[in-house]
Amino acid sequence: MPKTKVALIGVGNCASALIQGLQYYGKVETSKGSTGLRNPSLGGLKPKDLQVVAAFDVDDRKVGKDLAEAIFANPNNAPKVAEVPKSGVVVQKGQLLDGFGKSTQSIMQVSTAVDVDVAKVLKKSGAEIVLNLLPSGAAQASEWYAEQALVAGCGFVNATPNFIASNAKWAKKFAAAGLPLVGDDLVDQVGSTALHKTLLQLLSKNGAKIVETYQLDVGGGTESLDTMDRTRDAKRAIKTESVASAVPYKTDVVAGSTDYVDFLQNKRDSYFWISGVYFCNSPMRIDLKFSTVDAPNAGSVLFDVLRGMKLALNKKQKGAIEPLCAYGFKHPPKLLPLEAAEEAFKKFVTENS
Ligand SMILES: NC(=O)c1ccc[n+]([C@@H]2O[C@H](COP(=O)([O-])OP(=O)(O)OC[C@H]3O[C@@H](n4cnc5c(N)ncnc54)[C@H](O)[C@@H]3O)[C@@H](O)[C@H]2O)c1
Repeated sequence: MPKTKVALIGVGNCASALIQGLQYYGKVETSKGSTGLRNPSLGGLKPKDLQVVAAFDVDDRKVGKDLAEAIFANPNNAPKVAEVPKSGVVVQKGQLLDGFGKSTQSIMQVSTAVDVDVAKVLKKSGAEIVLNLLPSGAAQASEWYAEQALVAGCGFVNATPNFIASNAKWAKKFAAAGLPLVGDDLVDQVGSTALHKTLLQLLSKNGAKIVETYQLDVGGGTESLDTMDRTRDAKRAIKTESVASAVPYKTDVVAGSTDYVDFLQNKRDSYFWISGVYFCNSPMRIDLKFSTVDAPNAGSVLFDVLRGMKLALNKKQKGAIEPLCAYGFKHPPKLLPLEAAEEAFKKFVTENS
C-alpha cells in the first residue's frame, strides 16, 4: 500500500499528538490495539499508511531539528506518550507573516534561518496533502500556505478556525486546480462542542425545552494563549453557531474559549450550564465540568480526515469535499447535524474506497 504523504504546517501540540499517535498506533492492522481510534481502518487505509514527509515552523527551537526532537521542544506541552525515533524529516523555516500574536510573542523565539521556498520543498518531498496546524490567529499565514499547496499540487486540510474551505473563493481555487480542500476548525474526538450538542439534542428529543445554555473553557496550551488576544470572538461565533444548530428552536446559547491558565499545561477544562423546563414546566439544570487533554483530542479525527483526503485524491475529487468537512470540522461549508454528518462521511468512504 503506497503511503499517504503529508506535510505539516506548524509543529506545535497537535503535530506532536499526530506524530506520537503514528508511532503509538504504528502496528494497528485490526481493531486489536486500536483503543482510542474511531476508525482503525478507513477505506482500507490504516494509521501506518500515513507518512509525514515535510514540516515547517518558524520557532528557533524547532527549525533545523528532526521532527522526533522538534515535537517535544518548548513551548509545546502535549504529553509524551510514545518514544519517537528519528524520522529523517527536518523542520524547515516557513514564512512568519502573522504567525505569532501579541500575547504569544513573549514565549516564541523566531528563528533567524533563511525562509525556504515552501512550494519547492513540498514538491520535492512528494507531499500529497498539506495539513495546516498554525495558531488560530494566523489568518494571513494560513492563506499563504494554502497558496503554496496550490502551487505544489497538494490537497489542503485546514485545522484552524480561519475560513478557507468554507470560503467559496478558496473552494473555487482548489476546484480549478483539481485538488481537494477540507476545513475549517477541526472537531475534537471527545470535544466539548460535540458533548454539548449531544446533551441538548437528547434533552430536546425527550421533550424538554432548553431555556439557556453556555459552555466556557480554559486551557494551558499556546493555542489558548493565542486565542485570548486574536480569535476569542471568532471562535466564540463558530462554537455558538455549531451548538445552537443542535436545538431545533431559537434559544440563548453562548459557547467559547474563555481564558489561558498556564499551569494546566496542555489540559483543557470545559464548563457547561444548561437550564430548561420539562413536564408541566418543571425546572431542570445541568452544571458540568469536563476535563480533557487538548492535543490528543485532534489525533483520531486527523487520522480520519487525512485518510479521507487520500480517498478523495485517489478519485480525483476537487474543491471543498463536503462530507469530510461536515464530519471533521466545526465550520464546514455546510453544517450538518451530528448523525447526518457521520452518515455522509460513511457514505463518502464506502463510495470512494
Ligand atoms: N484539539 C486541538 O488541539 C484542536 C482542535 C481544533 C482545532 N485546532 C487548531 O489546530 C491549530 C494548531 O493547534 P496547536 O495546539 O497545535 O497550536 P500550537 O500553538 O501548539 O502550534 C502552532 C505551531 O505553529 C508554529 N507557527 C507559527 N507561525 C508559523 C508560521 N508562519 N509558519 C510555520 N509555523 C508557524 C508555531 O511555532 C507552533 O509550533 C490551531 O489553529 C487550533 O485552533 C486544534
